[in-house]
Amino acid sequence: MRAISKKGLVLVMISGFLLLSLIYLWFPVKKQSVDIGLTQRGHIEKLLMEKNKDTLSSYHDVPYVLKESVSRQLAYGTCECRGDENKINLPLPRILFPRVWANNLNHAYLESDPDPGGVIGRRDKEYSAFQRRSYSPADLLIVAEANSPLQYPTQGVEVRPMKTIIIPGLGLKQDPRPTHTVSLSVTMGTLDVAATVVGVSISGAGQNTMGLSSSVLSQLNRQLQFVTYTNTLFHPKTADTVLYGSGGHKAAFTIKVGHRAIPKLFNSGTNEGYNISALVTIATKTFLRYDKLRDMINSVRKYYPTVLIVIADDNEHPQPVTGPHIDRYIMPFGKGWFAGRNLAVSQVTTKYVLWVDDDFLFTESTKLEKMVDILEKTTLDLVGGAVTEVTGYSATYQHTFSVDEGGSEGDCLHIRQGHYHSIQGFPSCVVADAVINFFMARTDKILRVGFNPQLSRRGHLEFFVDALGSLHVGSCSDVKIGHASKIVLPWSKSESAKSYDRFRYSFTNSEGRMQTEVYYFKNRLKCMSSN
Ligand SMILES: *[C@@H]1O[C@H](CO)[C@@H](O)[C@H](O)[C@H]1NC(C)=O
Repeated sequence: MRAISKKGLVLVMISGFLLLSLIYLWFPVKKQSVDIGLTQRGHIEKLLMEKNKDTLSSYHDVPYVLKESVSRQLAYGTCECRGDENKINLPLPRILFPRVWANNLNHAYLESDPDPGGVIGRRDKEYSAFQRRSYSPADLLIVAEANSPLQYPTQGVEVRPMKTIIIPGLGLKQDPRPTHTVSLSVTMGTLDVAATVVGVSISGAGQNTMGLSSSVLSQLNRQLQFVTYTNTLFHPKTADTVLYGSGGHKAAFTIKVGHRAIPKLFNSGTNEGYNISALVTIATKTFLRYDKLRDMINSVRKYYPTVLIVIADDNEHPQPVTGPHIDRYIMPFGKGWFAGRNLAVSQVTTKYVLWVDDDFLFTESTKLEKMVDILEKTTLDLVGGAVTEVTGYSATYQHTFSVDEGGSEGDCLHIRQGHYHSIQGFPSCVVADAVINFFMARTDKILRVGFNPQLSRRGHLEFFVDALGSLHVGSCSDVKIGHASKIVLPWSKSESAKSYDRFRYSFTNSEGRMQTEVYYFKNRLKCMSSN
């Protein structure tokens, strides 16, 4: 009896297993695949743009008079590449008569290219992919039309990827009528209700278009308080556009879809005062100038004996650099300026990094506490200081950028000396777009921008161009660092200084072309002007 039941059990188990396998084969678990390619804009976006055209350009028949002083300032997408004319040809003209120069990158870059048409085509293709990649439906212009009975949130609705929320603020205000109806539709998710209200009929729940109707307005409005949105297309940061309508009235708003930004916090270990050694790492890049580098390290140690110095070294024959709190990273020979900056900054573990050149010298005026203080108390991400030459002249090298749209040929980058405005509570400090190569920055912010390692011997502004729109940059003229003598008579220069000059300042054609390529292709500019 027992043997039979055992056999029976085994049989039941085997047939059960076979049955399950069959079911699995017949109805496999559906993992829906989602298209996340760089698609064209969806039908909701197209619809809204069409609608905007009508809304924004009605009343053609009403005459107007242009106000020249204001209309001149509006960008038309046709930036011009024009510098000041060079009328006066005197020695030292730039100091006495500062003038704006302009570099037509289209000429400079394309003229020396054997296949200019190919380059233009490639740049256009990359640019349209970039535009589609960086486009967010939350950037779309949405106009709320006059006298809409629809009540809805205009902004501030957010959902985590693949999660569900209640859409707050939905409502309908209209006079009594036999049936009150609204409809909602989305593209990256589904709509549903978290609760049902008596007297309201719902169609399309769980789909991307849902309709609600009721003969009692208050019941419909109650039901609208339970409408949910579930995101079903995963993207770490995007937005879904909701179309909301009733009868002839239509409204649109966006729900932001995205992961929460995870903070990056630094534990500096102290509660009071600024412990510079715990907060700041000094980063530098050295090449052929070990005498200068040692002078720099010694000058740092006079004021900050325990702050870590990170050195990127791409010399052919590295010489010893010894001492406590020094990390040196040897790179392949001649890797270059920005590659070295990248490497040095990538090794920093403190909240802030101070960039110095290897021929700078700390003095009594090199107060890193001041830089930490302004970075702690303002929204600045990067603050530059002043570099004092042996002559006593201090430079802060403050610049502002403006990028004007220039249509299909590319945009114009205008660089001008100066700043935007001063900073309250910090009388020596101003806000700008680019500063000198003596600066302190939030390490994680500067790492996100990075330094283009293609720029091997020259390069400074390129970093600030890449940082445009993501770094908040300031400059304080009262934090000063010395610059080891640059004006040395050629015959008194050491051998290493001479070979350094040969390497750094012999700007070959291919390097000049690389710099033009960065601006022409990578930044998609047609013109650069500066003063
Ligand atoms: C400052 O920070 C350094 C490095 O973290 C640490 O060794 C030192 O003890 C700190 N000094 C004070 C006064 O907290």
